[in-house]
Amino acid sequence: MMMNVLVIGGGGREHTLVWKLAQSPQIGRLFCAPGNPGIASVRNAESVPISVTDFDGLTKFAQENNVALTVVGPETPLIAGIVDAFEAKGLRIFGPAREPSQLEGSKVYAKELMRKCGIPTADFVVQSDLGESMTYAREYFAVHPGKKLVVKAEGEAAGKGVMVCDTLDEVESALRRILIDREFGDSGSRVVLEEGLVGREVSLMAFTDGVTVLPMLPAQDHKRARDGDEGPNTGGMGAYAPTPFFTQEMVDRALEIVLKPAVAAIKSTGIPYKGVLYAGLMVEPDGNIKVLEFNCRFGDPETEVVLPLLDTDLMDIMVAVADATLRDIELRWRDGTAVTVVMASGGYPGSYEKGKVIDGLEQVQELSDVVIFHSGTERDASGSIVTGGGRVLSVTGVGSDFNQARARAYAAVRAVHFEGAHYRTDIGHQAMA
Ligand code: AMP
Ligand code: GLY
Repeated sequence: MMMNVLVIGGGGREHTLVWKLAQSPQIGRLFCAPGNPGIASVRNAESVPISVTDFDGLTKFAQENNVALTVVGPETPLIAGIVDAFEAKGLRIFGPAREPSQLEGSKVYAKELMRKCGIPTADFVVQSDLGESMTYAREYFAVHPGKKLVVKAEGEAAGKGVMVCDTLDEVESALRRILIDREFGDSGSRVVLEEGLVGREVSLMAFTDGVTVLPMLPAQDHKRARDGDEGPNTGGMGAYAPTPFFTQEMVDRALEIVLKPAVAAIKSTGIPYKGVLYAGLMVEPDGNIKVLEFNCRFGDPETEVVLPLLDTDLMDIMVAVADATLRDIELRWRDGTAVTVVMASGGYPGSYEKGKVIDGLEQVQELSDVVIFHSGTERDASGSIVTGGGRVLSVTGVGSDFNQARARAYAAVRAVHFEGAHYRTDIGHQAMA
């Protein structure tokens, strides 16, 4: 039976979801709200101008267009309860409900759940008062000289609410921004103060229907703006998968000590967790695995490297998640590696100009084993594709090994041009070490 699918969101992650779903023989029409010009070029896919938080508009659209499955990309609608809104109308949807989405929506909820069920994570305290926080920080630095202290706003902060601090002054300025200036609004009425960890970071995503948990390939993203992991934090400048240093033994261990206990703990509190569970992990120098964060959705740009390597029909997986029959599914992966390089607007992650014409997209479409996912693009009045965001394109190369995938991604990057474009030249440097 052919099924119509609605994907919610409009970035590189959603373009990848649409592109992958379009490969399924079960797909009828593909809609993406609000989508972007790249998505509209996928076979049978079209963008529809509805906002990701307009739940009335989205449920109405799903009903009127015979949508058999809705797939949610970003965290904001999940945390606001889009899954509950769809299910209340009897509509099938892929993603966790409002309550279990608190795993990303509230760092206090996530840390307390980890503490309760013994999931390894950095030591922490929860604070809402500047003075008490500073007293804690003073003692922390006295007892742990040389260690960092991490200050995290409790709620959603578009990836900007985490500050890794070396000194008491840095802690104070982070706390002032969050608790006093309320840079993140109510997301900053409480903070988590957390022990700084060191090691290698890896993103491990899993599909789960609330009972069965199937891990995907481990990926690594690159948050800093410049080569050598320098410069300010961004939404992600590139990624690769799989990560050689995160071995199958580590995936199995993370499944047993992190992913399964989290899913089981949530189930026991009421509403089961369905969708993608994303664990941001730190692998310490001695090989211990600790959780840095949970996200309630696919990572961006991790999705742009993990899904191109997936062999199993994504539609089968997503329907099984929504219907709680995931035990019948087996994930199969292509051999090889994928590398994605993000091309960003000049100035990003600071202020930048939009509306720069992007050249070379057609030529790259001819290259094999390269896909360009659009993260922030628009069509101008003349119909040209122009820059429309900080992260503009996510250029993915797939190859039989890391070097081939990387060479393909960078060859494509060099063929695409827009004024002010910048990108990192060292994506995957940890795989080369
Ligand atoms: P989060 O959103 O909590 O993952 O934090 C964003 C980034 O901050 C992570 O990817 C890490 O690079 C860094 N980070 C978060 N928590 C810690 C920690 N406890 N120790 C060291 N770095 C951290
Ligand atoms: N790449 C990090 C995230 O999606 O949160």
